[in-house]
Formats: sequence, structure tokens, C-alpha cells
Amino acid sequence: MTERMTPESIRATADAFRERCRPGKVRGLLVAGSGLSLEVPGWGAGEAIELAEIFDFSLHELAGHSQTMTLWRRDDETLMVMNGRFHLYQGYRPEEVVAPVRLAGLLGAKVLIATNASGALDSEMAPGSLVVVSDHINLQGSNPLVGDWGRDFGPPFPDMSTAYDRELRKLALEAAGDAGFDAREGVYCAMLGPSFETPAEIRMLMGMGGLVVGMSTVPEVIAARQMGMRVCVLSLAANPAAGLVDRELTHEEVMEEGKKAAEKIRVLIGSLVSRVF
Ligand code: HPA
Repeated sequence: MTERMTPESIRATADAFRERCRPGKVRGLLVAGSGLSLEVPGWGAGEAIELAEIFDFSLHELAGHSQTMTLWRRDDETLMVMNGRFHLYQGYRPEEVVAPVRLAGLLGAKVLIATNASGALDSEMAPGSLVVVSDHINLQGSNPLVGDWGRDFGPPFPDMSTAYDRELRKLALEAAGDAGFDAREGVYCAMLGPSFETPAEIRMLMGMGGLVVGMSTVPEVIAARQMGMRVCVLSLAANPAAGLVDRELTHEEVMEEGKKAAEKIRVLIGSLVSRVF
């Protein structure tokens, strides 16, 4: 096990997956963030597959993140749903973080919908608000297209000027309203983590024009755009960012807010999926 993943090995992973799961026409990939488990009404929940049985790199444990992918099926179509995701801060390599996107893209997926949890950079924004991501600032210090990955799957220098699909953003804002969210659009700043930011870093991100800050999703977005997928990212602002309130931040607080919003996010995703597919 765990030779370094290569473009050839992820293609082999996709072939094995196709053989084993017979996904038919793969329409899209949904990726659920911290503690969320998604449901897609109108589609039947098929098998949940252990990620360890799909990917050939070693998995790291993370509290609150289950390690499965569920296939939701409708006639000959499949939506792939990642229950949890791989993060750089867990020690995954950039190409491993985006392996689910590569897999889905190789199987024909044209849409990536991802959720995540974030800290709010606007002190007026209540915990539990939703941000439909309109753009990002990548401060993670890595890019999943470095090296061989910049060749095989699409343009080596993909355009990112319309990374977050305008039409999907509009649908997401409508779906968020339906689900009872206070929602707005904004820029997601991606940090490596796993430490939360310092108050000085938060002031910097505010000055850069960010609305929320998190530790995920941007690698997936970059890989998906390289493969020509349309992207929609929904960020649950779980806490005021560091220094905006006079108390410490904890992972538990983020998970707790995620749990509180879980039902609304299920409704939101259901409504969005029925508009998109
Ligand atoms: N910072 C970074 N990532 C996060 C935060 C935060 O405040 N909240 C949830 N994910």
C-alpha cells in the first residue's frame, strides 16, 4: 500500500470503481463538511462504501467525519456523496485531498457541490448564517495541480476567474432561502490549519476582502475547475473568527453549530439538488 498517488493510479482507481459499483451516468459529486451528512430527496440511497476500499492511500482518523461515500441513484444516474472529506491539515497530500474530485470527474461528473464550516470575518454575521461562496483566496501554501497533476486532467493553467458558477450561486441562494437560512455571497479564505487563526491574521483577511475563513474546499475547487466541472460551495459560518469575540475558539463549538444546522443544510442540499439535476 501507499505508493505515492499518480495520475495513472487514480485512473486505475476510477476503473476499479466503475467495475465494482456500475455507477452509470455520474452527474455530480457532493462533499459534506464537518459533521454533516447529506441526503438527496428524489434519489435512492444506494450503498455506502468505505473510503478505504476505494482509495489506495492510508486514511487518517478525524472526529466528526465519517469515512464513507454514498452512491445515490436515480434510474441510470448516480450522484456521489462524500460523507466527510480529506483535509491538508490531517496530513493528506494535495493530490489525495482532491482524489474524490478526480474520481468523480473521471467518471463523468460535471458538477461539484461542497459544504464546509467556517469562521465569520464580519462580526455582524450570526453563527449559523450561510455564505454562498463567490470567490476564494488560497492561503494554504499548496495547489493540487503542482507537478504531474497539471498535465493529465485538463489545462495546466486553468482559468479561475469564474470558478464559482454564477447560475449555481443563484440557485443556491434561492435554496438557502427555502431552507430558512440567512444567506449571502462572499469570499472564502482558505488557511492550512489546523490551528485557528490569530486575531492579526483575521484582521489581514478582513482587509483582503474575505467574508469567511476555513481550512478546506479550495483544493477540490481547483481540481474540479481544471476538469471543467461547475462548482458550488456553501459555507456554514459556525463561529465569529478569532479576536472578534472575547473567548477562545474550539473545534467542539464548530461541530456543535454544524449539528444545529444539520437539518437546515439537509433541506438546502435537497432543494439545490432538485434545481440542479
Ligand atoms: N477558522 C478556520 N476554520 C474554521 C473556523 C475558523 O474560525 N470555523 C470553522 N472552520
